[in-house]
Amino acid sequence: MKSSLIETLDGQFSVPLSCMRKIRSFVAKEMDAGLAGRKSSIAMLPAYCDAASGREQGRYLALDLGGTNFRVMLVELPGFGKPPRVVAEAKYRLTPGQITGTGTALFGVIAGYLGKFLKDHAITSEIALGYTFSFPVQLLGIDEGILMKWTKDFSASGVVGRKVVAIQRQALVQKKVRNVNIVALANDTVGTLQAQAVLDPDCGMGVILGTGFNIAVRVASRRIRKETGAYRGKSMIINMETGNFNKVLPRNHYDRRVDMDSGNVAHQFAEKMIAGKYLPQLVRLVVLDLIRKDHFFDGHVPTVFCDKESFKGWHMDVFEAGSKEAVQKLSQELFGRELTPVERRVMARVCRLVSRRSARIAAALIIGALTRLERRSKQRMVVAVDGSLFEKYPGYSRVLAAAIRELAGPAGKGIRLKLTKDGSGIGAAVIAAVVASGNTNLVR
Ligand code: BGC
Repeated sequence: MKSSLIETLDGQFSVPLSCMRKIRSFVAKEMDAGLAGRKSSIAMLPAYCDAASGREQGRYLALDLGGTNFRVMLVELPGFGKPPRVVAEAKYRLTPGQITGTGTALFGVIAGYLGKFLKDHAITSEIALGYTFSFPVQLLGIDEGILMKWTKDFSASGVVGRKVVAIQRQALVQKKVRNVNIVALANDTVGTLQAQAVLDPDCGMGVILGTGFNIAVRVASRRIRKETGAYRGKSMIINMETGNFNKVLPRNHYDRRVDMDSGNVAHQFAEKMIAGKYLPQLVRLVVLDLIRKDHFFDGHVPTVFCDKESFKGWHMDVFEAGSKEAVQKLSQELFGRELTPVERRVMARVCRLVSRRSARIAAALIIGALTRLERRSKQRMVVAVDGSLFEKYPGYSRVLAAAIRELAGPAGKGIRLKLTKDGSGIGAAVIAAVVASGNTNLVR
């Protein structure tokens, strides 16, 4: 492998401190514009709720839709700041056909599975449900919102520009699921923040680093200049839709290709550099380039690199940090042979470049978001994080934390990244409980 090629790649995927600083300041500007209702790549969508108090109690259903898996959970909230408990849970897989077909069919499938869950767990009395719907939604209040656009290659027709909960309710009626009452609609970042806020009053931010990427923050209401209807609380959680941030990002030609191959061209630039859905696609494009320019893999394109989805995030895990045995076992499966030492080294290097860049850009966005956040404590700031990239990718959380310290300096000392497992679903149950208690800060 020519060292000049690797050096070029190093340059194309580097995010120096100066670049993180620029991103941080542009994030703050875009947040201000978004909060004022001006044109911005960060939408700053009101969530119509404040951080939970920990007193929320009861049993609620949560429905979590945000990727090709969707989950139904029955969640018990003990109150008194005690951890929520997932009493029952089921995961269902949506097919590519279902997420790209008609909206009616997609919501029908979800309603069907929800009905099955109720039956399997003998839930027959009326129950409130918090709906985590992890796409850009302009909320109209705590329990309804309009889908602005699909992301993550969803494209079900007839949903963009329409009321999501109304469509879901209709599907529930059609499937004769009569005892479920959807009382809250939330983004997964908002849910994650809420799930952690129940345990820790210093939590003011929720981050998803998984298939997609996004941040929610708690903002003082006086900073929110745009319309927030009947909401009267002193602060409110805002779903930033940070994945769409598009200023001063160090994009290269691989990023432009990923964008062109995506279902939402010219949108979600930050997400396409950070999120788990796109990182393997970037690795694939770099490897294809190396095959073409430098006879990598003997000049042959392995079939796993022929289409954009076959090379997966967990393959990256193994090539970047797996033992020699694990790498060779996977190589046998993917390429029909073991890799040479040079090939192994190059694969590891490419995966590391792509994953490190993701973590450093995410760090810059997180620190940028912190500049407008309403804090309860000056010393401590808890950032709730959920998602497979953060939880499972080898070394990811360490690189992220290090980049945060590098950028924030001494001010970064009190920042704690807390893995908030299942936060997106549990948080929806928490919001449902807030609604049930009547403490919503909404004037009726
Ligand atoms: C969506 C966000 C969501 C994020 C993480 C993005 O594609 O636009 O609403 O929070 O993915 O799931």
